[in-house]
Amino acid sequence: MKKFTSIKDVHNIKSLLSLAQELKESPFKYDSLGKNKTLGLLFFNPSLRTRLSSQKAAMNLGMNVVVMNLNNDGWTIEFGDGTVMNQGTQEHIKEAAGVISQYCDVIGIRTFASLTNREEDYQDSVLTKFIAHASVPVISLESATLHPLQSFADIITITENKIIEKPKVVLTWAPHPRALPQSVSNSFVEWVKETNVDLVITHPKGYELNEEFTKDVEISYDQEKAFENADFIYAKNWSCYRDYGNTLKNLDHWVVNREKMKLTNNAKFMHCLPVRRNVVATDEVLDAPSSLILEQANNRTYAAQAVLLKMLRNED
Ligand code: CP
Repeated sequence: MKKFTSIKDVHNIKSLLSLAQELKESPFKYDSLGKNKTLGLLFFNPSLRTRLSSQKAAMNLGMNVVVMNLNNDGWTIEFGDGTVMNQGTQEHIKEAAGVISQYCDVIGIRTFASLTNREEDYQDSVLTKFIAHASVPVISLESATLHPLQSFADIITITENKIIEKPKVVLTWAPHPRALPQSVSNSFVEWVKETNVDLVITHPKGYELNEEFTKDVEISYDQEKAFENADFIYAKNWSCYRDYGNTLKNLDHWVVNREKMKLTNNAKFMHCLPVRRNVVATDEVLDAPSSLILEQANNRTYAAQAVLLKMLRNED
């Protein structure tokens, strides 16, 4: 595997899922595979789970890890081709990615959406340029449009917790005080569509996701109706795709609460975290035994470990 940026980079999802489950059972089974290899984790944006779970995954494989917050600690990177660099940018992506490839055997990059220019964001140009100029495999630690390590962990979590062969999974928009990217939701839909589930997306009018992801998926503007008979509720906020990056007002009633969870088929609750308590979902939902939020976070390690293992072995 030369890159892990979306489900399209995965040759066989079932086999990757089995590998993650094997690693969860025996995390140190391949602890010499990464000896004398280095994972570089580069962050343009904050992180708790991605940073620590990727480090842990690499350490479980015996790798060394170096981490850099590029926005605060590095030179300002120029991504344009042919730019006369006599303004604010100090180092070109060609040298930055080339140099980091001298130090690292695998590179992970987190680079969020600007939410100001849809075309640029949906080209995922920062990640794409890193891949173009790096000479080693690259893992997305969440790009402007997708969060594949999160979605892979979510699929592991659903597989472990489903009690019927084809569960109903509901992705529900939920309120948030700030405009957030569509990456987690796009990615969740992309991955879940490839598994044996009934997927329903529910959101207020105006929050339609990019149809490239939601084509053939049932969409409901009635959250309570969508919750009926659900086996999994996955809550996430996102900003508008059409009116790009904007948010709509007076939608606090979309919070996931105990009354809405009662409409489901004793559904498990999921969220990628971090979560704004009593805004996205109430304390009683987040703290209930049916909440899988910590299991999802735990599975981030084995999702990352499976991807790293494939890269170290140079397997698809
Ligand atoms: N879910 C997730 O990616 O968490 P972090 O932003 O803390 O890494």
